[in-house]
Amino acid sequence: MKSSRLLPLCAALAAGAALAGEPADPLVVACVGDSITYGHGASDRGTKSYPAQLQALLGDGWKVLNFGHNARTALDEGKEWNGQGGMGYRKSPEFEKAKAAKPDVVLFMLGTNDSKPVNWDADDGAGVKRDYEALVSDFLNLEPMPRVVIGLSPFVKKDSFSIRESVVGGKLVPWQLELATSAPLPYVDIYAATKAAAETSYIGDGVHPNDAGYGVIAAAFAKWLRDMERTLRENHAEAWPASISLPAPKRAEMPLGEALAKRATHREFSPEPLSDQELSDLLWAANGYNRPEERKRTAPTAINRQEVDLYVLRADGAFLYDAAENALVRVSKDDLRGLTGRPGPNNFALEAPIALVYVVDFERQRMKDRPADALKYAHVDCGFVGQNVYLHCAAAGLNTVFLGSLQPDKLAEALGLPETSKPVFAQTVGRPAPER
Ligand SMILES: Cc1cc2nc3c(=O)[nH]c(=O)nc-3n(C[C@H](O)[C@H](O)[C@H](O)COP(=O)(O)O)c2cc1C
Repeated sequence: MKSSRLLPLCAALAAGAALAGEPADPLVVACVGDSITYGHGASDRGTKSYPAQLQALLGDGWKVLNFGHNARTALDEGKEWNGQGGMGYRKSPEFEKAKAAKPDVVLFMLGTNDSKPVNWDADDGAGVKRDYEALVSDFLNLEPMPRVVIGLSPFVKKDSFSIRESVVGGKLVPWQLELATSAPLPYVDIYAATKAAAETSYIGDGVHPNDAGYGVIAAAFAKWLRDMERTLRENHAEAWPASISLPAPKRAEMPLGEALAKRATHREFSPEPLSDQELSDLLWAANGYNRPEERKRTAPTAINRQEVDLYVLRADGAFLYDAAENALVRVSKDDLRGLTGRPGPNNFALEAPIALVYVVDFERQRMKDRPADALKYAHVDCGFVGQNVYLHCAAAGLNTVFLGSLQPDKLAEALGLPETSKPVFAQTVGRPAPER
């Protein structure tokens, strides 16, 4: 039988393994675009928009998300045909949501609304092209970097809403093709596919596809995604490693008396990430093995039950600190830092690169018959680790604040904790905020 002290790590490893595989860890496809992505004109957006049909074609192992917004343009200062402004895709909530979705693939299909005279004609599309490229770059600059696939803008069967086939087919699509081949970026020829099926694929306005037309778009993108599936899954596993080995920890060199003199709570942080070396040093000081041959640690625990697990929350996910392996074992791809500290926009836990979460494994503690003692010892054991973190931060020039405020239930769920493990404290760590 497995010893109970190994259980959380096994659970985390299982979660890590699932992250690298299918279908527990789907490839995320973000469909970025205008009303043709949104699904205007479909008999039922939920099942007949192109992203919905794409999801059905691809099935399990993929998560297709619709970030389409009606009337949106690549042009930042894009307008509606009647001159109404604020139509730039960058200004839509979908832009932020698409980036936050951490997509593996972005299917980028904008440009139709840019063909309107109010957007195109002043400089013959120069502004559209500039902002189109900048938007594509925004997605390419995400961490980890997604594949951005240029969807050549769909054929316009009949000019409507001042959208013009002469511009889409005559100028925009040839330029998109040039951009894709020179960058180089992958592209899918939605223009050709929709033109070939035009007879049966449009609603009356001649701009928006009908259900069959959305199926044509979905099929064209599905082919590219299927062809690339293997590479996408390899990149996915690389971008989200199940575990990260840390370099051997180095000890802070400041004399203890000086560190004690400097120890203090600070609540202002620079967002700059900590290096793997800095993290290794910090975690070892916090609760690493200082006497590995005896499996004993830098922080004491009542009856040596070692019931405190440290989780590390960063922008790129949540990890369990495996002190024996000196590694971070991934338990989530999500940024959970906002579940520590006081919820709200001024939460400093979102500024700092690291939030530590103190999780007590009451199973491993084996004091269920003495609940008052169990809590008392658990809390004091967390306190020792917290003070180690404070002293190490003082010595390493880092800022930190120990936190009783956290959202334990949400954290327990997001970290995949068993019933018997509870998040009890948190601690924010980062470099001091730059002087203003
Ligand atoms: C158990 C405990 C819980 C704490 N919770 C919070 C908290 O939720 N938010 C916060 O800003 N500071 C929190 N602190 C930090 C204290 O406010 C801080 O330690 C105290 O003001 C003394 O400041 P010093 O650490 O600089 O000596 C907590 C400290 C402890 C020991």
